[in-house]
Amino acid sequence: MAISMLDLKSEYAQIKNEIDTAVKDVLASGAFILGPNVSAFEKEFAQYTGVKHAVGVASGTDALFLSLKAIGIGQGDEVITSPLTFFATSEAISYTGAKPIFVDVDPATHNIDASKIEKAVTKKTKAIIPVHLWGLPADMDPVMRIAKQHGLSVVEDCAQAAGAQYNSKRTGSMGTTGCFSFFPTKNLGCYGDGGMITTDDDNIYERLKLLHLHGSKSRGIHEMIGYNSRLDEIQAAILRIKLRYLDKWNDLRRKNAAHYTSVFSSAGIKCPAEPKGLRHVYHQYTVEVPNRETVMKKLSEKGVPAFVYYPNPLHLQKAYDDLGYKKGDMPASERIGDAMLSIPVHPELSEDSVKMIADRLAEAVK
Ligand SMILES: Cc1ncc(COP(=O)(O)O)c(C=O)c1O
Repeated sequence: MAISMLDLKSEYAQIKNEIDTAVKDVLASGAFILGPNVSAFEKEFAQYTGVKHAVGVASGTDALFLSLKAIGIGQGDEVITSPLTFFATSEAISYTGAKPIFVDVDPATHNIDASKIEKAVTKKTKAIIPVHLWGLPADMDPVMRIAKQHGLSVVEDCAQAAGAQYNSKRTGSMGTTGCFSFFPTKNLGCYGDGGMITTDDDNIYERLKLLHLHGSKSRGIHEMIGYNSRLDEIQAAILRIKLRYLDKWNDLRRKNAAHYTSVFSSAGIKCPAEPKGLRHVYHQYTVEVPNRETVMKKLSEKGVPAFVYYPNPLHLQKAYDDLGYKKGDMPASERIGDAMLSIPVHPELSEDSVKMIADRLAEAVK
């Protein structure tokens, strides 16, 4: 069977009966917006993450944007983040009117280099968005220490890291808020768009409840100008089921990744790091290879898919020309952008496929 970067059809086949029943129940209930599945999933997700509150929203992008709004970030403020991430991370900052300030990544982990954050803090800095890229938690202890010293909020971008852990704390439980995406390709994905914000802060929670629902807590009363950003009831019903499988699926991803790393470490391929105390969930297994185009061509000839997610770091995107960054400003992100390559690591891969992918990539870099 052909190998694909993702296999959502096989994943669905495994849980079809449960999903079909849950979706039919919602259809029969006639409760499509903010029904019992949304509130139950918010509670279950908060408990899973180890926080007091969770608010379902329409996407991961909205989770980031609404978090920043709830914290009070706007025009004239600066928010520090990584340039090696999906565009939505900085886009959410820009939506508020604030300015994204990029800090280069640690070449070992592909996550924001905490030792470079302090130099980027100014009087205008209001928050840091560490991104747990590929499913590996960013180095949160120094991030939280710097935030505390300078009175900054921390918005964790957990879009790729549901279930990952940093010294036994789940992603989404360390910052002011944690922002999750349930985009179908994520390691916890729904069947459309969806997102979640987690927080321990009662005031932020109250503001999020208002912001995501037209500024209203009771019908007909609007306390502020808000937005329409809700997690859909059908998606919540699907996610309640998928959450029960998340740890098992993450373990399978880890098993596939362990095989890759065992083969690649001696083959001249830079493998993903997993610093001590961290639990990587391998939303993506991303390596660095020399001569990437040649390697990709060889892989494709052997039927092995591979994908380059963020070849152009955000500080060099046309949309951010006005920020004045230039090539060379973020050397680690730029170098990684030229060398990185993601290969399939999803839980539906057979052992034979994992072995085949590992062998083909090891051969391709020779
Ligand atoms: C790191 C990161 N942040 C934010 C997002 C935005 O999430 P969504 O697509 O649900 O808006 C994504 C995924 O798309 C992502 O990978």
